[in-house]
Amino acid sequence: MNVTEAIEGRQSIRAFDPDRQVTADVVTSILTTAGRAPSGSNIQPWHVYVVTETAKDRITQACTARYLAGDEGQSEYHYYPQAWRQPYIGRRRQTGFGLYGLLGIDKADAAAVQGYRVTNYQFFGAPVGLFFTIDRDMELGSWLDYGMFLQSVMLSARDAGLETCAQAAFCPYYDSVMPLLGAPEEQMLVCGMSLGHPLGEALVNGYRTERLDAEAFTTFVSA
Ligand SMILES: Cc1cc2nc3c(=O)[nH]c(=O)nc-3n(C[C@H](O)[C@H](O)[C@H](O)COP(=O)(O)O)c2cc1C
Repeated sequence: MNVTEAIEGRQSIRAFDPDRQVTADVVTSILTTAGRAPSGSNIQPWHVYVVTETAKDRITQACTARYLAGDEGQSEYHYYPQAWRQPYIGRRRQTGFGLYGLLGIDKADAAAVQGYRVTNYQFFGAPVGLFFTIDRDMELGSWLDYGMFLQSVMLSARDAGLETCAQAAFCPYYDSVMPLLGAPEEQMLVCGMSLGHPLGEALVNGYRTERLDAEAFTTFVSA
């Protein structure tokens, strides 16, 4: 797989094969490769917690219970703009409608939406969950570095025959997740990620999002 294939073929996978395990060695190998991601002054501001089996189940139970109780939680950082506006809200809606449309979920059907959204907390059936944290005294530049690291994890996983879904869905429940990880107070939860083999026949895995043409976000400036 070359780099272009790895990037263009990556998509968020939301149904994994729970019976196909991923060894700790494979996870370590993926993270070792991803750790080659660049960071300003090479400070490497990432920390990863890997959860499987009962450690993963405890997080599933804690987050699912809170989500189903209607507790929306509160992330420690704002992932999205405080005030949505075009064109971003339009793109967001397009993504949501596309996914729900494929799955035949009516957005007005609260039970159906909830039934789907809760699969986030089940790691979409994946055998491995990754949690990414950052020391809270790091600045914006380190968050920029972190994005490169996350993409590197996703691409390196593909090279190992695995797929991923990054998950901010865990962030509102950081106060349940972080203690279960044994993470110290100095760290903030950046996001979670499911990792495993995709379930090939799952409808949801056929969801392919669109992208702008480069011309739409590029300005060539000449004299
Ligand atoms: C940091 C980050 C957090 C995300 N959180 C979630 C999430 O909680 N649940 C989910 O289903 N998808 C999540 N996604 C996936 C995005 O919806 C997805 O990347 C986007 O729609 C583009 O689709 P693609 O990944 O298939 O190319 C997240 C993506 C990123 C980069």
